[in-house]
Amino acid sequence: MPNAIESVLVENRVFPPPPAASAGAAIGSMDAYKKLCLEAEQDFDGFWRRQANENLVWSKPFSQVLDESNAPFYRWFGDGELNVSANCLDKHVQGGNADKVAIIFEADDGKVDKITYRELLGRVCQLANGLKKLGYKKGDRAIIYMPMSIEAVVVMQACVRLGVTHSVVFGGFSAKSLQERIVDVGATLVVTADEQVRGGKTIPLKPAVEEAFAMGGCDAVRQVIVYRRTGGKTAWVEGRDLWLHDVVAGQSEQCDPVPVEAEHPLFILYTSGSTGKPKGVQHASAGYLLWSLLTVKWTFDARPDDVYWCTADVGWITGHSYIAYGPLAAGLTQVVFEGVPTYPNAGRFWDMIARHKVTTFYTAPTAIRSLIKASAAAPDTAPDRYDLSSLRILGSVGEPINPEAWMWYHKTVGGERCPIVDTWWQTETGGHMITPLPGATPTKPGSCTLPLPGIAAAIVDETGADVDQGNGGFLVIKKPWPAMIRNIWGDPERFKKSYFPPELRGYYLAGDGAQRDADGYFWIMGRIDDVLNVSGHRLGTMEVESALVSHPLVAEAAVVGRPDDTTGEAVVAFVVLKGARPEGDEAAAVAKQLRDWVAKEIGPIAKPKDIRFGENLPKTRSGKIMRRLLRVVAKGEEVTQDVSTLENPQILDQLSKSV
Ligand code: PRX
Repeated sequence: MPNAIESVLVENRVFPPPPAASAGAAIGSMDAYKKLCLEAEQDFDGFWRRQANENLVWSKPFSQVLDESNAPFYRWFGDGELNVSANCLDKHVQGGNADKVAIIFEADDGKVDKITYRELLGRVCQLANGLKKLGYKKGDRAIIYMPMSIEAVVVMQACVRLGVTHSVVFGGFSAKSLQERIVDVGATLVVTADEQVRGGKTIPLKPAVEEAFAMGGCDAVRQVIVYRRTGGKTAWVEGRDLWLHDVVAGQSEQCDPVPVEAEHPLFILYTSGSTGKPKGVQHASAGYLLWSLLTVKWTFDARPDDVYWCTADVGWITGHSYIAYGPLAAGLTQVVFEGVPTYPNAGRFWDMIARHKVTTFYTAPTAIRSLIKASAAAPDTAPDRYDLSSLRILGSVGEPINPEAWMWYHKTVGGERCPIVDTWWQTETGGHMITPLPGATPTKPGSCTLPLPGIAAAIVDETGADVDQGNGGFLVIKKPWPAMIRNIWGDPERFKKSYFPPELRGYYLAGDGAQRDADGYFWIMGRIDDVLNVSGHRLGTMEVESALVSHPLVAEAAVVGRPDDTTGEAVVAFVVLKGARPEGDEAAAVAKQLRDWVAKEIGPIAKPKDIRFGENLPKTRSGKIMRRLLRVVAKGEEVTQDVSTLENPQILDQLSKSV
C-alpha cells in the first residue's frame, strides 16, 4: 500500500473545537453528531426521508426513499421530481433573499463583479431561454469548457434548468482530452470561451475546441457557444458558432424550471481510473443536490452572514459540489476566483480573504504547501501581513494533508481559532464523506476524522471482513448514500467491476487504503490502485503511459508516483525508446519533447516531472513490469529487494539516473 503520509501515524495532538465554533453550529457537539448517526443507523430510510423532505423543494413528492432492487444501480427518491436550478436560485429569490449577493467574482487582474440571487436567476433564465430557442431540451448533453467565471456557473445552472446534462471539462485539459469527452458523452452542444486568463497570461480555449473538432467524431455537436472573455482571435464556423451574448440577447429573465425525475442524470464528470480511459462518473439530480446542500450546512456550518470561498475550479468535482451547487442551494454569498494563488504575488489568497471578509475558506493541501514555501521566501506575502480575522472555518480537500502543513494552516492562517475540516471524498461520492464537523469534532492533524451521519464508512480486508483497529485495509462504504455515483457513462460493466467487486460483499470500494486509530478516526494512506494524486488532481498511470507510447519515438513506458514536497505526488516516467538509449543533451531534448507531448495528449498537469531512459524496464520472467522496484528507484532509494529474477539488473542503474 502506498505510504503517502507515513508521518501522520505517529501524530497524537488533538484540537477540540473552540467554544465559539460550537455555539449555534448546525451540529454543535459530539452528542448532536452521535444522535444523527444513531438516527441514520436505526432508521436509515426515515433519516434520508426526513433530510430530503426538509432540505429540498420537490415539484412532485417522492414516496420510496431507496430502491435496491437492481443493486448496485441504486435509485434514490425515485418517483419524486424536482429541478436543481429552482432549488439553487428560485428558492432564495422567492424566499426573501433575492437581493443577497450570490457571487463575488474576482478576476485574475483583480477586477471584482458582484451578482445577487435575483440577477443570477435572471441570467440563468435568459440563457436557458436562448438554449431552448436553439432546440436544446431535457436529455441532451452539453460539454462545458470554460474558465472560472460567473458565466460558467450560469451555463451549468441554465443546462440543469432545462434538464440538459452537462459535462464540464477542466480548461487545463488538452484538445485531445476534450475531443474524447465530446465523443464519449455524445454532446450536441459545446460551451466555451475565446480564452482564459491565468497569472496574467492568456491561454486559448476556443482554438482547442477547433482542434478537437478537427480530430473528428464531433458531428453530433450542433452549436458551439462562445463566451467572450478576452477578445482573443479564434476561427469561426458560421451557423455553428454563436457568441454567448448573442444567445442571451433579448431573452426573457423568466424561464420555468423543467421538473426532472430524481434520478435524471444531472452531470457527467470524467475522472481517472486504473485503466487508460477516463471514466464518465454519472450523478443523479436529487440525491446529489441533497448531499451537496447538506454537507455545506454541516461541514461548513453555513450561516446567513458567511462569505464562503472554495478555490477549486468548476472543472473538478469540488467546483461542482462546493461552488456551482451546494453553496447556492444553501443561499450563501460566495467568492469565485479566476486566477492562481501566486499572482500577482503569493499573498493573493490572504489579500482576497481580507478584502472580501471571507469567513469560510476551502482549498487544497498543495496550495497550502506552495504558499508556505512562497511566504518563507517573500515574508511580505505571508498570511500574518494580512487581516484574516474574518475567518472562522478552514477546509482542506483533494489529498492527504501532512501534519506540518496542517499546523501552519491552523496557526498562521487560522490564528489557532478556526477549526480545520479535512474533507475526504471523491468525484464518485458527490460530496464529503469523512470529515470533522467544525463545531463538534476534535481534530488531529492529518486525519479526516469521522464519517458524516448516514455514511457507513469502514475498513476491510480483501474478503470484505472488518480489519482490526490499527490495521490498514481497503476503505469501503457499506451502505448506499444519496449522492453516490450512479453509473459510468455508457459502461455499466466497468461501473460494477470498479466499485462493487463481488468479493467485497456489495460494499462500495473507494480505491483508497486507510486505517483507523483507537478513537475510530480515519487516516487515509493513499490510493491502492494505479491512480496518482498530483496537486490534488487525479491521474491514471496508464493514461500517462498510453500518452507516452503513442509518441513515435517510444517503445515502452512505465509511470509511477513519487512523494513530492509541494505537489503531494509527482509523475516519474521510465521510458524505453525504439532507438538507442539517449544520453546527455540528446536525452534532455527527447525528455522535453515527451513532456510537451503528454501536455498535448492529456494536459499540462500530467507532464512527468522526471523522465528516465533505459534500454529496458525491470520485468518478471512472465514479462510483468515490476512497478514496486520502479517506485523505489523513482524515490532515489537503494533497491534492497531480491532482483535475481530480473533479466537485466543493470537497467536499474540506468533508470536511477534522472535526465
Ligand atoms: O485518494 C483520495 C484523495 O483524492 C481521491 C479522490 O480524487 P478526486 O475524485 O479527484 O476528488 C478530489 C476531491 C474530492 C481520493 O480517492 N483525497 C481526497 N480528499 C482527501 C484525499 N486523501 C486524503 N485526505 C483527503 N481529505
